[in-house]
Amino acid sequence: MNILITGGCGYIGTNVVAHLKERGYRVRILDNLMYGYNPLAKDFDMIKGDIRDPQVCLIALKDIDTVIHLAGFTLEQCDQVGRTVSHEVMVDATKNLFESSIQAGATRFLFASSCSVYGQQSDVAIEESVPNPTTFYAELKLLSEEYLRYRYMPSQFGKGKRPSNFSGKLPYPESMRTTIMRFATAYGPSKRMRWNTIPNKFIADVWQRKPIELFGPQQHRPVMHTQDIVHAIHLLLETKQTNDVETLNIGSNQQNYEKESLVREIVGEIGGTVKIVDTPDARDYRVSFDKIEHLGFKAECTPKMAANVLYKGLNSGEFAVRDDKIVVTT
Ligand SMILES: NC(=O)c1ccc[n+]([C@@H]2O[C@H](COP(=O)([O-])OP(=O)(O)OC[C@H]3O[C@@H](n4cnc5c(N)ncnc54)[C@H](O)[C@@H]3O)[C@@H](O)[C@H]2O)c1
Repeated sequence: MNILITGGCGYIGTNVVAHLKERGYRVRILDNLMYGYNPLAKDFDMIKGDIRDPQVCLIALKDIDTVIHLAGFTLEQCDQVGRTVSHEVMVDATKNLFESSIQAGATRFLFASSCSVYGQQSDVAIEESVPNPTTFYAELKLLSEEYLRYRYMPSQFGKGKRPSNFSGKLPYPESMRTTIMRFATAYGPSKRMRWNTIPNKFIADVWQRKPIELFGPQQHRPVMHTQDIVHAIHLLLETKQTNDVETLNIGSNQQNYEKESLVREIVGEIGGTVKIVDTPDARDYRVSFDKIEHLGFKAECTPKMAANVLYKGLNSGEFAVRDDKIVVTT
């Protein structure tokens, strides 16, 4: 299998790249290094380039049969770079990459979406639940998802409901299988650490001897360890069970946390104090991961495990807490 991983130098990507390469997959990375450094060793097949550039995508896709599309912005970065650039990177580039993948003969496209498309839900959300994004980031993820679903079955979308800027010219190939991966919030170690996701933020606060600032203590959020995300992606690469277009929640039924109990678990493990703060955040969702579990996936790591590993790693200097600064060309 020849795999192109966009965003392979990121928090999730570095873990995926290392895991797949170790297992003998041929992996190429397309990443614009927006954090200003390359966290991967030099012997990786790496193209430094922007997914918004169609020519770069076509070069990166040469001889590729499988695309794992991880490149994108976080919620905070969407706010930072503004709506136009966010839309270009998160939606337009996804459409182009998908079309270029068809053109290049790829037969598998895995797209990193997010459980945050559920936004606010009173019941446990399943893949068929009506999404209710409460952030611009989640809206953009949903737009890309809709495009991928639309490309497979335009008839599902009534007139006026078609995703805008439809640019697909080639028919959806019979051999193509698209998987929309709605990840839970990721935590745990990476060669390109992120400290702004929960529970990583909580762990960093404890290590810095700061009170954990917790907002929305009773709100729910599914979380998932980076190593478990990697195993889920690996399973999806190998499974024969997905439909032509499959949407899957990626996480664990055991890790749908009320945020306060997540914080308590971490404090119970590595100490620390908690300060409840009043920051508005409408996100509150619990998610069913039955579908991926039926494919054979079972999460093996926990926030407690990550708390210990990250805390020790911060003490030893293996990890450093730093704010992410990004450089984005417009
Ligand atoms: N981390 C999470 O909790 C989480 C949860 C749900 C979904 N996701 C999604 O998973 C994907 C990976 O997330 P992450 O946490 O690893 O993020 P990250 O910011 O650590 O990694 C993103 C990578 O994409 C690259 N990139 C960004 N814009 C690019 C562009 N225009 N061209 C080429 N490369 C570009 C960056 O340089 C970076 O290496 C993202 O799409 C994210 O939205 C993440």
